[in-house]
Amino acid sequence: MAGIDIPRETWATRTGFILAAVGSAVGLGNIWRFPFQVGQEGGAAFLLIYLLFIALIGFPAMLVEFVVGRHTERNPVGALKAIAGGAWSYVGWIFIATGFVILSYYSVVAGWTIRYTILGLQDGYLADAGEAEGQFVELASGLDAIFFHALFMAVVIVIVAFGIQRGIELAVKVMVPAIIVITVGMAIYAFTLEGASEAYSYYLSPEWGVIAAEWQSIFPAAAGQAFFTLSLGMGVMITYASYLGEDRNLAEDGAIVIGFDTAIAFITGLIVFPILFTAGVDPADPGAGAIFVSLAAAFGDLALGWIIGAIFFGTVAIAALSSAISLMEVVVSYVVDERNVDRKVAAFGIGIALFLLGLPSAYDLVLLDLFDLFADQILLVLGGLLLMILVSWSLSELAVDELSRGIGDLGSLGPAWIWAVRIPVVVVLIVALVLGILDYYEFLTGPFAEWVGGQ
Ligand code: PFF
Repeated sequence: MAGIDIPRETWATRTGFILAAVGSAVGLGNIWRFPFQVGQEGGAAFLLIYLLFIALIGFPAMLVEFVVGRHTERNPVGALKAIAGGAWSYVGWIFIATGFVILSYYSVVAGWTIRYTILGLQDGYLADAGEAEGQFVELASGLDAIFFHALFMAVVIVIVAFGIQRGIELAVKVMVPAIIVITVGMAIYAFTLEGASEAYSYYLSPEWGVIAAEWQSIFPAAAGQAFFTLSLGMGVMITYASYLGEDRNLAEDGAIVIGFDTAIAFITGLIVFPILFTAGVDPADPGAGAIFVSLAAAFGDLALGWIIGAIFFGTVAIAALSSAISLMEVVVSYVVDERNVDRKVAAFGIGIALFLLGLPSAYDLVLLDLFDLFADQILLVLGGLLLMILVSWSLSELAVDELSRGIGDLGSLGPAWIWAVRIPVVVVLIVALVLGILDYYEFLTGPFAEWVGGQ
């Protein structure tokens, strides 16, 4: 009821918050996007630059979102109203919009992972790359895709409807340990494969010449990936930190979350590359269909590939689920906090809206790209950039005070953090935004225009 303050929920335990944040961070970004970006951007050289960006850009930026959330105890729109007000509230809106758009197609891709889990168990995977591609095109759009998109969304709705402690916290306590155990197990399995040593040297020994020759594409790709994989720029970390009832060391929590996220991405490389090398697939080859084409075909080639593949795709589905609930929570927390809507009603209504918005992405891959590029390369970067500018330039004192709650006097680390955000983070995001807009323009005038012409 409006006017009566019901106490806001909080995480039951510190582990609960950390697991939820890890669950959000570890998702399709780690398992689907990361290995193939490594493949496309030149192997180990990319890995190195990526790790650098995680530490120098990702870590300070995550702390910014944490302090804003904990300080305001509000959803992204409410948080920006509280710390800055005026036009800055619109930045909160950018976060909500980003979350909404990303989740709409993320759910479609997550639906594919469920479909591919079942595919392995039912029929096994096709070893021929051409046939595997044909199968992917068939399953990725149309009725199949819509059905599994709906199924995935329904699970997300149920978890989020149960709230922070009984829904999200409970779910991640099961899902995140499962993801960790299974990925480590699969990496050990991959170690036994014939192509393993060739794969390791590709993945782990950088060719310095590649960095020199291709830095223009490696740098923005690494920066974008660092932001996406840590769930930054979507309001997730603001929202999750807003449910922290007590003071604790946010820098330590952030380091733990980043450590797990990076470890899982890294280990995924140790799984995917040995499998690809063993099946004789060039890791630079795969494009968007990535794990659903070349990796699926590699599973088709391996002994017991059907079950290994089903375990792999099942794990990806779980990782996608623990990420999707975090994005859903961003939007639900807004409606619950600011509009006084009942959580269950909010989760259901928003879930239906997300399902509908995802339909174009489930209808045609070009439309999925249209949403993905816009949300990921423009909206996400824009929201993140504005928040970083606001906090580091006009609210630095508040930010340092908030970070020191639960840590104690930060000494010179406080200003070091603020300056890391003021210049490196902001500059990287500006460059990423410009490149993102150019890229989107190329997409609109190229593949998208062609698609519209063909309709
Ligand atoms: N960090 C997530 C990932 O790497 O997949 C990013 C994300 C995407 C979070 C979509 C949530 C989400 F729904």
